[in-house]
Amino acid sequence: MTDPSHIVILTGAGISAESGIDTFRDAGGVWENHPIEQVATPEGFAKDPELVHRFYNLRRAALSTVEPNAAHIALGRLQDAFQGQLTLVTQNVDDLHERGGSTDVIHMHGELLSAFCTACDHRWEQRSDLSPTTPCPACRTAGGPRPDIVWFGEMPYQMRRLEAAVQSCDLFVSIGTSGAVYPAAGFVHLARTFDAQTLELNLEASQGSAAFDEARHGPATQLVPQWVNSILS
Ligand code: OAD
Repeated sequence: MTDPSHIVILTGAGISAESGIDTFRDAGGVWENHPIEQVATPEGFAKDPELVHRFYNLRRAALSTVEPNAAHIALGRLQDAFQGQLTLVTQNVDDLHERGGSTDVIHMHGELLSAFCTACDHRWEQRSDLSPTTPCPACRTAGGPRPDIVWFGEMPYQMRRLEAAVQSCDLFVSIGTSGAVYPAAGFVHLARTFDAQTLELNLEASQGSAAFDEARHGPATQLVPQWVNSILS
C-alpha cells in the first residue's frame, strides 16, 4: 500500500504481557481467578465494594513493579516521528504507553491511576488505595469514589472520537488483543467498511484474525518494533 497518512492503533493486554501484567483470557489470565461479575460490573461493586476495591488496589500497586517494554517504547517513538496523524487507543488500564513515551493515549476502558466520584462526577489522579470509606476530594461524600474503570455493561470512553478516527484512517493496526470484547472488536470491520488497510500483530491468531487483511504472529516486543521501523523507514 502507499504510505499511510492516518494510522489508528488499538492495543490490548497482549502488549503489556511481556512487562509482566497478566492478560485476561490466556491460560492463568485475570478472569480465571476473578469472576467478571464480581469485580468488573456495577452490580458486583454495589454488592461488595471492599472486594472490588481490593482487586483494583492490588492491580494499581502492581504498576510500580513493571516497566514499559520494547513494544510500548516503539509506539512512543512512532508517535514522535510519524509525519501523518496517529490515533493510539488502548483497552488497557495500565500506564505503560505513557511511560513508553506516548502522549495522547485514549484509554477506552479507563485507567487504574484515576478515580471518580459517583456522587458528583469529579475525577482525579489516584495513586494510593481506595476503600468504601474514601471521601471524594471535591464533595467529601464518603463511599462515592470508585475506580475509573469501564465495567461490563458500561459505555467505553470517547466512542464518538474513536469511531470518527477509525472511519477516517487508512491503516488500522490491532496489537495484542483477543478481539473478544465489543465495541473494540468491531473497529476492524468499521475500518474495512471505510476502505482502510487492516493489520493484526498478535502472539497467535486471535478470535478476530480472519477479519484482517494481514496478520503477523509473534511476541509484541518483536513484532511491534519491526513494524514501526518499516513505517518510519
Ligand atoms: P485478552 O486477554 O482477551 O487477549 C490478550 C491477547 O493478547 C490474546 O489474543 C493473546 O494471544 C495476546 N498476547 C498474549 N501475549 C502476547 C504477547 N507477548 N505479544 C502479543 N500478543 C500477546 O485481552 P484484551 O483483548 O485486551 O476489559 O481484552 C479486552 C478487554 O477484555 C479488556 O480491556 C478487559 C477485558 O475484559 C474490561 O475490563 C472492560
